[in-house]
Amino acid sequence: MIRQEDVKILFKEEQALKYDRKDYLKFHEELSSKDREITILFQDQPIFDVLVPKGVFNPYGGIAAQAFMSGILNKIIDAKGKRVLDLGCGCGVIGLCCLFKDSNKVVFSDLHPNIMPLKNNLLIREQDEVKVQDLCVEEKDQSYDLVFMSFPSRSIDRQMEADSYEIGILRNDDLVFRAIEQIGRVLAPGGEFVFFYRVFNDRFPLSLEVMSKLAAHFDLTTLKLLWYLGEDNGHGLLLSVDKYSGK
Ligand SMILES: C[S@@+](CC[C@H](N)C(=O)[O-])C[C@H]1O[C@@H](n2cnc3c(N)ncnc32)[C@H](O)[C@@H]1O
Repeated sequence: MIRQEDVKILFKEEQALKYDRKDYLKFHEELSSKDREITILFQDQPIFDVLVPKGVFNPYGGIAAQAFMSGILNKIIDAKGKRVLDLGCGCGVIGLCCLFKDSNKVVFSDLHPNIMPLKNNLLIREQDEVKVQDLCVEEKDQSYDLVFMSFPSRSIDRQMEADSYEIGILRNDDLVFRAIEQIGRVLAPGGEFVFFYRVFNDRFPLSLEVMSKLAAHFDLTTLKLLWYLGEDNGHGLLLSVDKYSGK
């Protein structure tokens, strides 16, 4: 079972914040206003520290990253021996958990130009890579076994700058559709896509559109709801689905 409470994210050094999650945009603007180091705990034991560079999405105080990390560390998501793509990696907490579970190789990829210090994290091995790119456009077809993506949750209609904190929390729905296409391309047959996606009560037709896009590459009979959080205006869902195996 995914137990979100198994994973805690703390600031390495105590920090005073003016805003909290209720002021979602202001909270993230403030969180991302400077470099901050965080510590990840699993079942109350510190397991690693990571630098969240200025401008990059900071998972502190959020909900999705802990669910992914609990899934990996509790082995509900099997990362062992896999070629992993941590897409929209931000500071890299999801992929770093895969290193603990002996993934074969982890590629960390994000559009934000400030993610590169992740290369210096003590856990990163020779075979792992950190790349700035739009989704996974530079990756080869069928070259991954497991892809993670934690979609920014709020939907907007305008463009954003790649170096802004906004791209961590706001999305054009086009991003979701493009990601499904790209991930369908880079996964090997039978590979697994694990993603966090917010469904808003007033955008249910859009959620169905996401499902029909997924069906072009993924076997929807393998779709699993790994974890969810009910909220006033919708639900946060952690989903897993396998690419068609071709058998
Ligand atoms: C909700 S954050 C998740 C970050 C990280 N995976 C975590 O759990 O802490 C979404 C991430 O997607 C990235 N992102 C947004 N648009 C992207 C794009 N077109 N290509 C690659 N990454 C993108 C953002 O920069 C941000 O780091």
